[in-house]
Amino acid sequence: MKAAVLRKVGEPLTIEDIEILPPGENEVLIRTVASGICHSDYSVAHGVLRSPMPIVLGHEGAGIIEAIGPGVTGLKIGDHVICSLSPSCGVCPMCLEGREYICSEMTKTMSSGSMPDGTTRLRNGKEVIRQLNAIASFAEKMVIPAGSAIKVRDDAPLGTVCLIGCGVTTGTGAAVNTVDIHPGDGVAVIGCGGVGLSILQGARIKGANPLIAVDPVQEKRDLAMSLGATHTIDPFKENLEQRIREITGKGVHFAFEALGTMRTINDAYSILRPTGQAVIVGIPNLKEVYELPVASLFAEKEFRGSVYGSSRPKRDLPLFVDWYMKGDLKLDEMITKRIRLEDVNQAFEEMGRGEGARSVIMYD
Ligand SMILES: NC(=O)c1ccc[n+]([C@@H]2O[C@H](COP(=O)([O-])OP(=O)(O)OC[C@H]3O[C@@H](n4cnc5c(N)ncnc54)[C@H](O)[C@@H]3O)[C@@H](O)[C@H]2O)c1
Ligand SMILES: [Zn+2]
Ligand SMILES: [Zn+2]
Repeated sequence: MKAAVLRKVGEPLTIEDIEILPPGENEVLIRTVASGICHSDYSVAHGVLRSPMPIVLGHEGAGIIEAIGPGVTGLKIGDHVICSLSPSCGVCPMCLEGREYICSEMTKTMSSGSMPDGTTRLRNGKEVIRQLNAIASFAEKMVIPAGSAIKVRDDAPLGTVCLIGCGVTTGTGAAVNTVDIHPGDGVAVIGCGGVGLSILQGARIKGANPLIAVDPVQEKRDLAMSLGATHTIDPFKENLEQRIREITGKGVHFAFEALGTMRTINDAYSILRPTGQAVIVGIPNLKEVYELPVASLFAEKEFRGSVYGSSRPKRDLPLFVDWYMKGDLKLDEMITKRIRLEDVNQAFEEMGRGEGARSVIMYD
């Protein structure tokens, strides 16, 4: 099968013909229908997030189950599924607390580029190829842990709802699960790519007002307005803090950061009202250190992260599909381009320039 392989940081992915092994115990084989391209794929390709190589990237995948490994329950051949970042093992301490989004198996698969047992199902001849997040959706087929295969309704277009596999769940979940937004709370979203626009839509659903989109790219600010923002700010041309105070008076209740740079993390904390919360969703280089002005804690300001939208994937992914089908979550508008696997490097270049919200690789 065809797959896009990262062999060296900073170099283009190579399109290779590789083998995929049959699914092992508690694993499923999926024919990939579509995969979104997330900034985290870009961050691995550029060394911001470190990973073993060679590796097939891609984790915002959706497809149809073609084979089932031993021990799999609740899934069958022909099921339409979205890939979840978390295998939700159900037995680790985090899963037992209902925090499947931070399942201990997920932390393992993320750093090792392998299945939870440390092996992978991809080969090029004798060479072992890793699979990002135990998924690897930049390939025509995927073998993933059964817990990561979330069955969704058959009438949902997989070429669109694949975004729910990462960006939409991460963003919408950050707004509806991680924090408690009340109608009329002021919210700012810094960085309006696939994740940021999903945060924005979650905040809109929760009744945030004003809902302020911050992005230097005009196209993104326009898109944010059409998806429910009440105001936009260009952080390169306007004074962010001053504009936020003009719009909100004292600052925002919630500032979501969705890019992962120290500049935008700092921006998020700087625009809070007393008791406001900065929610860091973007993933910076893991060596970065943030200096927190301690005095600000006495205004009860909070600084926190959000992982995979604090979601319970089996509950939330089908729910977000329903919200899309009802028209509450607008996903088609977030897809700037549908591309072939061969065009993945060009899509990365566009992402680097901040162009387009989401590119989706279509396999049919
Ligand atoms: N926490 C999680 O669980 C999780 C999951 C998935 C992705 N992520 C992270 O979320 C982040 C966003 O991912 P994405 O796919 O939406 O990225 P993206 O590249 O699609 O979007 C980033 C946006 O930031 C904008 N931007 C650039 N400079 C800016 C500035 N100074 N101020 C405001 N906006 C600016 C760009 O124009 C672009 O619109 C990445 O760091 C990604 O790794 C986190
Ligand atoms: Zn992602
Ligand atoms: Zn678990």
